[in-house]
Formats: sequence, structure tokens, C-alpha cells
Amino acid sequence: DLGGAGDSLELPVYAVGGFVRDLLLGNENSDIDVSVEGDGIFFAETFAARYGCRVKSHIKFGTAVIVFPDGFKIDVASTRLEYYETPGALPTVERSSLKMDLYRRDFTINTLAIRLNSADFALLIDYFGAYRDLQEKSIRVLHNLSFVEDPTRVFRAIRFEHRLNFAIARHTENLIKNAIKMGFLEKVGGRRLLNELMQIFKHSDPIGAIQRMAGFGLLRFIHPDLVLTTENLRVIEEAKKVITWFDLLYLGQRVENWVVYLLALTSSLSDDRFWKMCTRLAVSEHYREKLIELRIHGEQVLEVMERRVAQHEPVVPSEIYFWLAGLTPELLLYIMAKSGNDDVKKFVSLYVTKLQHVASSITGNDLKALGLPVGPRYRKILDRVLAARLNGEVLTREEELQLATR
Ligand code: CTP
Repeated sequence: DLGGAGDSLELPVYAVGGFVRDLLLGNENSDIDVSVEGDGIFFAETFAARYGCRVKSHIKFGTAVIVFPDGFKIDVASTRLEYYETPGALPTVERSSLKMDLYRRDFTINTLAIRLNSADFALLIDYFGAYRDLQEKSIRVLHNLSFVEDPTRVFRAIRFEHRLNFAIARHTENLIKNAIKMGFLEKVGGRRLLNELMQIFKHSDPIGAIQRMAGFGLLRFIHPDLVLTTENLRVIEEAKKVITWFDLLYLGQRVENWVVYLLALTSSLSDDRFWKMCTRLAVSEHYREKLIELRIHGEQVLEVMERRVAQHEPVVPSEIYFWLAGLTPELLLYIMAKSGNDDVKKFVSLYVTKLQHVASSITGNDLKALGLPVGPRYRKILDRVLAARLNGEVLTREEELQLATR
């Protein structure tokens, strides 16, 4: 009972932003954002003490997260005025009224608030015409400097437009074009840009949003040489198909779809440029190394497979297995999307659905028990046994053991 806690502290409490927007649109959204007219951290601590929750607070920002025992979270903010001292920088925060807090937001559709205190409970507060814009399905900024204050909003506009099936209003579109022309997008930090791209690529079908980004000339902020060609677009469209296919397999394997889309969009970039892009987007060093290594490996395997198909040479399951074994699901889906060859697609699909789950029953311990001297030969023997399993040449444990000693 957030309102009750507000009542007892005599603090006005509101649900605000995306949660209210989605509530009115009938979309699911479990990210509850609460604004408190007053000390939000004090409010959060009082509420948490009453309901046995934990609180994590950021004194500098006047914000807190209430964490329920089951992990459910509520974000609490003190109504605040944010100054962006330079475009793209983090805001400086000062306390003010709910209206000023809402005025600082990106788009009108995110400025709705619902009162939670018992007096006027559930009152919808709409200072900036948000309700009208929800009805008109329109993405509109509140003032002309919105994209100057925070150029990442350009990507947010595209994301909301696409996800909600809204349209960016004419004037807002012009402000976007202006912000791009004036070079404000250059100031967006890599990490923030990556976050926005991730959000866009997490949609089940981001193609429209990607085309919109290309239309605004935004792809060059990912990498100066990145453009949307028919070939890129083909790979992205294929990526969507293979992701859907993979989801329907219900293998219980987690795939980061956004990685597949990012790989697909940038499939035309050379290794060197891809590396520069990762650096630009501030992909963590560890992840960057791994991603680049896998991408190179994936491209090589793709080449090998395409060559083999072109030569009309028969391919056995164990070959497919050892080509693909080191790759992550994201890379496997990317390879499938990138290859225009149906046979190559079949190889990867066979690996994903069947081969990757095959294992031989014997281990190094069995080889030891057989009296074979421990050493690097073990790997070779076990691989040979596994290959025989994959190709259906051995079917039982006994046959595996026989093969191991041969
Ligand atoms: N916001 C903003 N400018 C940004 C990021 C966020 O003005 N660059 C504001 C938005 O108005 C938003 C609120 O901060 O309502 C909370 O941000 P976030 O949780 O990212 O947005 P949601 O609208 O909740 O989006 P989503 O539904 O994707 O969570």
C-alpha cells in the first residue's frame, strides 16, 4: 500500500511514467515507477520497514529501489528537476514539484501520473496532453530542447514508435533531424548508445525500427561505414526467421536476440571495423574479445561449409559437430541467417536440434580403467568415439569401449 505509506508521512505519492502509459494502453508493464513529492528515500525506507522489504538508495539522485522479499522491485524518485549541463552528460538533480518532474521527461506519453494517496486515489494527472497523444498514437516532445538535453531520446523515440505502433509527430521528427544535423548525436556515450540499441533489438521484430534508424542516418553512429544495404536487410530478415524458428524449438537455451540482430546488421563490416564498433559502443573488454573471436570463427566455419556444399562432397554429422561445437547459440543463428545456402542452413539446424545433444558414454576415467596411459591422446580417442557415435557407427557403451582400445 504505497498510498497508505504516503498518507502516514503526509507525502503525496504518484505512479508515473511508462507504467501509467502502459496501464492506459492495456500493455503489460511490471516496472512500477513512483514519484514522491518530498523525500523519496525517506518514503522508501518507511514503506520498506513496514512491509519487510529492502531498500537501495542513491542519495545523490534522491532515488531508491524498494526490493520485496520475492525480488519484485519498485523504483522511487523524489520529484526532481534535472539539469543537463552538457548534452549527453548525466543530469544534476534538484528537488521540485511533480509538474516540473514530469516536464523534464522525454515524450508527452511518459508524463502521466496516477495519485496513490487515499484522498483522490487513482486520480489521473495529465499536465501535457499525454492522454490525447495516447489516443492519437503520437510521439511528441514537451519542448524544443528535448533532444539537445538528451540526444539518446532520438533512439527512444524510434523505439516507442515501433513498439507501441505509434508515429513520431511532424514537429518532433524535425527536431530529431535537427539534432542529428547539429551533431548532438556525436556526444552520446558508447554505453548509452549500446543500451538504446539493445532495447531496440530486443523487440521480436526490430526491422521497422532499423529501417527508421537508417532513414534518419543514425547507423553511422554505430560505425561510420555502416549503411543498410539489401544484403544487410536480407540477413536481418533471415535473422528474424531463424530466431522465431529457434524459439519454437523450446530447447530451454537462452539466446540474446539482440546480439543476433546486432551481428546481422553489421554483417558487412570487416573484422577490423567490427572491432572498432565494439570499442565505440563500449562493449566490455572481456565480452568484446569473445564476441570478435566467435564472429571470426563463425565466418570461417561458414566459408568451410559453403565450400563443401559447392564441391558436392558428402558431409557426415561428426564434421558438422566439430565445425560448430565452439559457437554460442547467437553465433549459430547468425550463421544460419547469413548463409543464403539451404544445405548450410540444414547443417546448422541439424546441429542445433540434434547433434549438440549427443555425447558418448565413456570418459577419461573409463580410458584409465582400460589401462591406457594418461595423456593428450585421451582427447583424440574421446573425440574419435564421439565422432563414431554422431555418425551412428557405434551404438552402445560396449562398442564405444571397443573402439577406444582399437
Ligand atoms: N526518460 C527521459 N529521457 C531518457 C530516459 C528516460 O525523459 N533518456 C524518462 C521517460 O519519460 C520515462 C522515465 O524517464 O518515462 C523512465 O525511464 P525508462 O524506465 O527508461 O522508460 P519507460 O518509459 O518506463 O520505458 P520502458 O517501458 O521501456 O521501461
